[in-house]
Amino acid sequence: MSKLIDKQLQVSAIENGTVLDHIPADKLFKVIEILELEKIGGQITFGTNLDSKLLGKKAIIKISDKYFKDDEINRIALIAPQAKINIIRDYEVIEKRVISLPEEIRGIVKCANPMCVTNHQRIETRFTTLQTEDSVLLKCHFCEKVTNTKNII
Ligand code: CTP
Ligand code: ZN
Repeated sequence: MSKLIDKQLQVSAIENGTVLDHIPADKLFKVIEILELEKIGGQITFGTNLDSKLLGKKAIIKISDKYFKDDEINRIALIAPQAKINIIRDYEVIEKRVISLPEEIRGIVKCANPMCVTNHQRIETRFTTLQTEDSVLLKCHFCEKVTNTKNII
């Protein structure tokens, strides 16, 4: 109980909306960018460098009155795969979702091949994903170069 009260003091509970919890602290601003939260007109609160048993330091984002589609949220799979999505209605957590890796990633990362067309023309990058035991591989749609995200994120 005291744990819950501590949390609520750090970042207040919300009535309705989405809470993204267990975001690695150093990925907070990247998550904000990928989810394009700057375009949302409603209330958003966040905290970072909060203590987490799992991650050491974590960040949390609370977006009032906003519910994301799975494919929107899954765009953060590369940078915050362990994030937890809590759906809040009338102050209650009515659903918890986990992030799943999309089959395709558009934008977000650059192709590691300097010769790739995406590094020379204004073309959005496009990769198919492959989950290995300890990392995610991205295969470029245009040049087929495989990039290990461990090296780039
Ligand atoms: N939360 C919130 N507003 C509410 C209810 C919950 O902002 N009205 C937040 C909590 O602060 C917490 C997250 O939603 O960060 C999940 O809430 P809850 O499931 O109650 O917390 P935990 O049991 O700690 O969740 P977990 O261990 O799954 O992260
Ligand atoms: Zn490429």
